[in-house]
Order: sequence, then structure tokens, then C-alpha cells
Amino acid sequence: MSTTLYGGATHRRVTIMDLRDAKARSEKWPMLTSYEQMTASIFDEAGIPVLLVGDSAGNNFLGEENTIPVKVDELIPLTRAVVRGSSRAMVVADLPFGSYESSPEQALATSTRFFKESGAMAVKLEGVHLATVEKLTSSGIPVMGHLGLTPQSLHQLGGYRVQGRTDGDAVLEAALALEKAGAFAIVLELVPAELAARITAALSIPTIGIGAGSACDAQVLVWTDMAGFTAKPPKLAKAYRNMRADLLAATQEFAADVRAGSFPSEKETFH
Ligand code: KIV
Repeated sequence: MSTTLYGGATHRRVTIMDLRDAKARSEKWPMLTSYEQMTASIFDEAGIPVLLVGDSAGNNFLGEENTIPVKVDELIPLTRAVVRGSSRAMVVADLPFGSYESSPEQALATSTRFFKESGAMAVKLEGVHLATVEKLTSSGIPVMGHLGLTPQSLHQLGGYRVQGRTDGDAVLEAALALEKAGAFAIVLELVPAELAARITAALSIPTIGIGAGSACDAQVLVWTDMAGFTAKPPKLAKAYRNMRADLLAATQEFAADVRAGSFPSEKETFH
């Protein structure tokens, strides 16, 4: 068995078994969102073991206000690009709002499209849909759960607010039920760190935190927040660079060069 999640596994994709083994040896791991091939290849090269084609593509790629309008037909080509742009990461596709809640059969039909048309290796769904998780996993489709702040329920929850402050036991029970139904990992979004630590200790599958403290087995960020592209990043995110400023400066330099007639120079010219 490898000593790190990526150790040795250089010529194959990370699997749900690798993630299970990582938890068993208390190895923490990072997850990032990705919506196209360029970032997928960079994150893959950096050793990010799991890439999530999140419905956060809505507000970070497609120009929507939130995740609710995102459609299956929009997310499938993005997922296919991320699969093509990577060779080692496990690629997880988010099931968009309205594409899985009606019945396990609806969820299976949507997930089957993601598997056949994009090459996704797992799907993620928000909330507690136990019969659906059982249906998908028994059909060969690994499922990542998502509890706490579930952005597709934004209007029901009354905004982007911390969940589980008063009903932490209910979140713990939901996590245990998802594990029992067959989920291979669970995202915990915007929950108190103490609750996330309790859930992480109680589960044998990995927890993936976002705004859930440091005790989770893994941490996920929306890549545009991580890289500093987002104009107003949420409090839960950390920007490791200011790529918005870098790209703005590069664009302004290019525009100035064109205006001044100094691009293209002799170097970029053919004779
Ligand atoms: O859509 C998304 O990017 C997500 C992550 C924030 C977990 O669900």
C-alpha cells in the first residue's frame, strides 16, 4: 500500500479505495473545484487527488447568481473537459438542482448521463436522499454526500449561514445514515468546527470540510477563491495568490503594448 494518497499511483486515477485507505492512516488531502481542462491539468500536476466539477460553476464560471440555475447539459461538457485535462485525479460531478431529487430513478438516469457522456468517476448530491444513494451505489456509481450548508437549498435555509449550531445531532445522524447507505465521502459545509470533528471521528468514510474547521479528513475550496480570482471571496476561503490582480496587470500590459505598437515585436513576427 502506498504511504501517501498519490505515492506510487502515478499512472492511474485515484479511487474511492485510496481515499478510504488515506482515512485509515489519518492522511489529510485537498480537493479543488475545476470547470475546464487548463485548471484540471494544473491541479492534477500539483497532486490534488480529487477534482470536483461543482455546480459552483454557476456563480464562478457561467455568470449565474448562485448554483440553482445550473443545468445537467451545462455541467456535462465541463466535466468532460476536466476528465480530459487530468490523468490522476478522481473527477466527481455535482448533480445539479432538480436533476436527482424526484426519485432514485431520476438520479440514476442523470448520473448515468454523467458517466457515459463525461467520464465522471463519481457524483455528488446535496442532502439526505438515502434510497438514492443506495440505488446509485448498487448500480456502480460512487456517491459523495454534502451536508450542512447545501447551497441548492439556499432559499429554504434563508441564506448562506452556518448550519448545525442548534441541531448538531441531526447533522451527525444524517452523516451516519449517508455512510450506511453507501456514500464514500461527505462534504461538510459551513458547520461549527466542533461538530465537524465529532462527525469525522464517528465516520469511517472521509469528511471533506469547507468552512468546517481543521479536523476534517480533507478540505475543499472553490478554485477561484483559492487562487484569488473571486472579487468578493467568502469568509471560509483563503486566497493563496492574487491572480485577479495578476491577470488584470497582464491584460493591461498587453493592451498598452498593442496601443503603442510594441506587440508584436520582431520576435513574434514571421517573414
Ligand atoms: O459546488 C461546489 O463547488 C461544492 C463545493 C463547495 C463543495 O459543492
